[in-house]
Amino acid sequence: MNISTQTITVGKLLLNLPFLLKNPEKLLTKWSQKSDITIVSYLSSSFYLINNPLIARDLLIKYEENLSKGTFFEIARESIGNGTLLADEPEHGIRLDAIKNVFRSKEIEQYISDFNNLSSQTIQNVIDKESVDIRKISQDFTLQAAMLTLFKSKAETPTNQFQIDFNLETEYLTATRLLTRVIEKIELSDRKSRRPYEIVVKFVVNHMIHLFSYRLRRRAESLHSANMRDFAKDLIYSPSSVSKDETDLLFYLREAQASNKDFWNADAQVDEILTVLLAGHETTANTLAWVIIETTKAGMTPIPVQSIDQIIFETLRLHPPAWILPRQVNSAIMIDGYEIPTGANVLISPYIYHRMDSYFPDPLRFDPSRWDNVQFKDAPAAYLPFGAGGRGCIGQRFALAEMREFLTEFALTGPWQLSGSSPKEEFLLTLRPEGCPTLIKR
Ligand code: HEM
Repeated sequence: MNISTQTITVGKLLLNLPFLLKNPEKLLTKWSQKSDITIVSYLSSSFYLINNPLIARDLLIKYEENLSKGTFFEIARESIGNGTLLADEPEHGIRLDAIKNVFRSKEIEQYISDFNNLSSQTIQNVIDKESVDIRKISQDFTLQAAMLTLFKSKAETPTNQFQIDFNLETEYLTATRLLTRVIEKIELSDRKSRRPYEIVVKFVVNHMIHLFSYRLRRRAESLHSANMRDFAKDLIYSPSSVSKDETDLLFYLREAQASNKDFWNADAQVDEILTVLLAGHETTANTLAWVIIETTKAGMTPIPVQSIDQIIFETLRLHPPAWILPRQVNSAIMIDGYEIPTGANVLISPYIYHRMDSYFPDPLRFDPSRWDNVQFKDAPAAYLPFGAGGRGCIGQRFALAEMREFLTEFALTGPWQLSGSSPKEEFLLTLRPEGCPTLIKR
């Protein structure tokens, strides 16, 4: 392949900065249109926006070892620690080994009855209601599902307090904050880059960033992260966590601690618990909320049970919770004669690929029937809701099983209509519906 590129200069970046901070997806879409890779130069550093999903797949699968999670996630590490999702090798390997057993097909089979019982209880509580809070029902269900299956619900602190802390904390983790942190981090360290105009550029950019993120930074001063850590610590030290249950994540963390005491101290375990709780409930909660919104908008209410898989796949296409997968290049990558240099920041965006009409005709239309007779493994190459390669989602089967069970029960309710207009997308660390509407009985 002959890789085409375009370069966005620092001047253009500056002009577009307010736009980038407000609607990152719009600017990324605009910049993605004319080439396979868009290089955004910023002083002595560069972002490589990967516009061609085939190159993105190669990077995630073939060049996985050349990439690390890098600076982008520093701010997320401050909130949830350095668990499997955020750690780089060799720590990632140690962590993955400790948790992977709870995600095998055999274990997922065992969770299905829990998912099923919890779904019926949840739906029993709403079946006669005249209105339902979409975000709450989705998030309550997915958090309880993760607690019940992976932690056998050994929560000392009520999960609803955890949910409040979690929501406030993750609102702070906006995509904008992640991106601006990278820009703030770029140091004018070498002599070459200490030219006066560069110092001025950095000063102006940093001021703009501070203006835009003031409100969000104030929130970071709160104690939500500390509360979440206490919640996870309670799980480790809870007396009931000593039982031997091979579907219990705490069992595996204890085993790991017994064989590698130096690594698996309490903090390392807390990081892992928070990671699994975050990765394991927020993504599925957002997907379920979008399923309910999109199907109601499309008049598919009650949800047609026979199309649940297609509905899930189509929702993950239009609203992939992990909408951007940032990476840093730790050793230069040569693809078809084109070099992405060491130190570059790479942005891979399933959100952009999922809306390309070359892969998905009439891409903005919610159309579950495009998945008729298409299994997940046969999806177009541009479809990456769970990422790909060694850093792809370990919880994919867990998530699909849990969502199927919930939606099968939810299909017994309705018909519904939305209380307001369709919500906008909010580009946080995950993609959420902003100002989620309520369901009203029709
Ligand atoms: C609809 C639901 C979900 C979606 C869309 C999703 C998506 C993703 C994506 C895209 C990644 C890769 C991130 C990257 O490449 O930077 C990932 C990683 C991960 N996911 Fe999920 N996920 C979902 C549900 C879950 C669940 C239910 C769990 C656990 C209970 C989970 C646990 C993880 C973990 C631990 C990782 C890190 C894997 C590693 O780096 O080795 N996810 N997820």
